[in-house]
Amino acid sequence: MRIDGAVVVITGASDGIGRATARLLARKGAAVVLAARRRDALDEVLRECRRAGAEALAVPTDVAEAAAVENLARRAVEQFGRIDVWVNNAAVGIVAPFMDTPLEDLRRLLDVNVMGVAQGTRAALEHMLRQGSGVIVNVSSILGEIPVPYASAYSMSKSATRALGVSVRAELRLAGASDVHVCSVLPPSIDTPYYRQVANYVGREARPIPPLYAPERVARTIAAVVRRPRAEAVVGPAGRVMVMKHRAFPGLMERVMGAYVARAHLSRRKIPPTTGNLYGDPGLPATVGGGYHGRLRTAGRRAGTATLLAGAAAALIRRRGQ
Ligand SMILES: NC(=O)c1ccc[n+]([C@@H]2O[C@H](COP(=O)([O-])OP(=O)(O)OC[C@H]3O[C@@H](n4cnc5c(N)ncnc54)[C@H](OP(=O)(O)O)[C@@H]3O)[C@@H](O)[C@H]2O)c1
Repeated sequence: MRIDGAVVVITGASDGIGRATARLLARKGAAVVLAARRRDALDEVLRECRRAGAEALAVPTDVAEAAAVENLARRAVEQFGRIDVWVNNAAVGIVAPFMDTPLEDLRRLLDVNVMGVAQGTRAALEHMLRQGSGVIVNVSSILGEIPVPYASAYSMSKSATRALGVSVRAELRLAGASDVHVCSVLPPSIDTPYYRQVANYVGREARPIPPLYAPERVARTIAAVVRRPRAEAVVGPAGRVMVMKHRAFPGLMERVMGAYVARAHLSRRKIPPTTGNLYGDPGLPATVGGGYHGRLRTAGRRAGTATLLAGAAAALIRRRGQ
């Protein structure tokens, strides 16, 4: 699919990966329809996209609400006449041991991360099947392939959207809709405000699991998937190595990642329990005007190299022991 001239809906466009994707696709000539809950942040991204020369529309949307997602699709079609690409990117996170995760919060996370993607996929498919073409990109995560401790809710949601992609792809194939595609993108840790916004019941501040990439890296992968749709794309060489190691040595990786995450994912800094941005703006310093990076990069890079080396060493030891 050509990005130039395509009409692209992006959820979670007010921050992080969604914002980087909106800017990139706007620069490449797409008309962008931006969705998230915070109107002020969306308006900032709207201005960025228009400055890049793109046609753009902002539609404040909570993806957990089916009616809001239908309204998003309707507004996109009213304004631009079609929907060529739909990026289901909006998501929230909870860092907590499973037994300390409040059920209400778990349900809300699944409403946003799973039902939000399902509702977005349905709304997009309705138009794409009529048009006979389109690309849906669901932003999953490496944690949808390699679940880790203190992220049970998030990991299960990210596995669920990959499974949705597989089923719907098969149905599209059976229906002969060969020009309608559903793709999953699996980023590793990305330097976005996500880690400051997650709900947290573990008592210590969350940190990304190294290595850490910039949100623009994911945006470039999403653009590549739109141009040449494929079932799944893992972002970055470190992400691909982690997935390969997990597929080759699942038991070992479960133990290595579990032990590693317990150390690397939580900082020493103590914080009180918080619902983060699950239900709305967490009241953290606004990223509007201040960019959309988490400003976590340097520490992540150093630790990332260490993770990769540790993982490779563990795999080697196991091989020798066999
Ligand atoms: N950062 C990472 O390390 C990482 C790694 C792998 C995968 N991912 C995935 O990449 C995607 C983007 O993550 P990110 O790091 O960019 O996160 P982020 O910086 O926290 O941004 C999340 C975006 O989702 C929006 N959002 C949250 N709840 C929403 C709701 N109910 N309805 C509509 N929009 C909602 C937020 O905007 P509002 O608050 O304005 O609604 C924001 O624009 C997510 O699917 C995430 O799971 C991230």
